[in-house]
Amino acid sequence: MPGTPILGYAGGISCISDVFASRQAVQGLSQTNKRGDHLMKAVQFHDYGGIDVLRVEEVECPVPGPGQALVEVRSAAIQPGEAMIRKGARHDRWPATFPSGQGSDLAGVVVEVGPQVRGVAVGDEVLGFTHNRASHAEFVVVDDVDLTSRPEGLSWDAAGSLYVAGTTAYAAVFAVEPAPGDTVVVSGAAGGVGSLVVQLAVRRGATVIGLASEPNHAWLKGRGVVPVEYGEGVAERIRQATGGNVEAFIDTFGDGYVELAVELGVRPERINTTRDWRTAAKVGARTYGEGAAACAVVLGELARLAARGELEVPIARTYPLGQVRDAFRELEHGHTHGKIVLRP
Ligand SMILES: NC(=O)c1ccc[n+]([C@@H]2O[C@H](COP(=O)([O-])OP(=O)(O)OC[C@H]3O[C@@H](n4cnc5c(N)ncnc54)[C@H](OP(=O)(O)O)[C@@H]3O)[C@@H](O)[C@H]2O)c1
Repeated sequence: MPGTPILGYAGGISCISDVFASRQAVQGLSQTNKRGDHLMKAVQFHDYGGIDVLRVEEVECPVPGPGQALVEVRSAAIQPGEAMIRKGARHDRWPATFPSGQGSDLAGVVVEVGPQVRGVAVGDEVLGFTHNRASHAEFVVVDDVDLTSRPEGLSWDAAGSLYVAGTTAYAAVFAVEPAPGDTVVVSGAAGGVGSLVVQLAVRRGATVIGLASEPNHAWLKGRGVVPVEYGEGVAERIRQATGGNVEAFIDTFGDGYVELAVELGVRPERINTTRDWRTAAKVGARTYGEGAAACAVVLGELARLAARGELEVPIARTYPLGQVRDAFRELEHGHTHGKIVLRP
């Protein structure tokens, strides 16, 4: 039921008390964890399935090893790819092992560090990523190289939304090299990835055509993008908007947009899709995504742009961790403008 937490979860009771307890023990003080164990809340699923397999459970709080930090998560965005993995639709490519956690994006505060950690210290405000499907939780262990400082002026929600969408957008724009004088068409232009793609392409001096539903047109216009409605007749509308000259195409939606780009006369090496790998392979288009830019250096660059107000990270909605099912229900409607964020 929408709005109903999966667990009767008040939050706040977690391994943080253990971290403090260990510090206080060092200082000669004593404190007992409320549960007498080292538990935290985390999103888990025990089988492939729909939204109902998602649960918020008590699991063991991870311990940072060498070169790792324990981060208390303040915000962690959700992704369409996570829904695909949870449904088993990506089993061949990215199988799950059960029970599975979830989540790559994260922003939070470092509360403990392992030995030989570099570049981060307890108390640091950071954003970053994990490839261990683990950030939809109160705490997550992250390699020090996968973290970057949260710049002043960047909201927690934006910080926790930047990794997957940001690095994917960065790579997709890099792939097609938009330049002044070019016209670039972007499908899914107001979505999590697309909303960043269009802004990065405009920054490169290109004319950007954004395919989106009408309610998103005002936002696109406000970012210097020419909005065009998708659906029946879209090729003709693009030709009208561009005079028939399209140099590059960034597809963030799939479902025929790579073919449309070819039909519009775009050279294959200037077509990039984050979704339709099969058609891309057929026509020789590019498939740069998160994997091509997955590093804290790119993330830090995007974070500084966003903190300076030069890159907007639209936040569609935030949910407490306990409402993870509601968050995915909204995401899976497929019309999110920007990012949906969990706040553990
Ligand atoms: N390869 C990678 O590394 C990588 C990384 C991240 C994401 N992805 C993939 O990239 C895709 C986009 O991710 P996302 O996070 O941006 O998704 P999202 O936030 O859910 O955005 C979906 C967007 O799709 C648009 N849309 C819905 N129906 C459409 C149609 N028929 N034609 C054109 N646009 C339509 C919606 O626009 P309106 O609201 O205007 O209808 C919405 O803005 C997903 O398939 C995801 O799995 C790949």
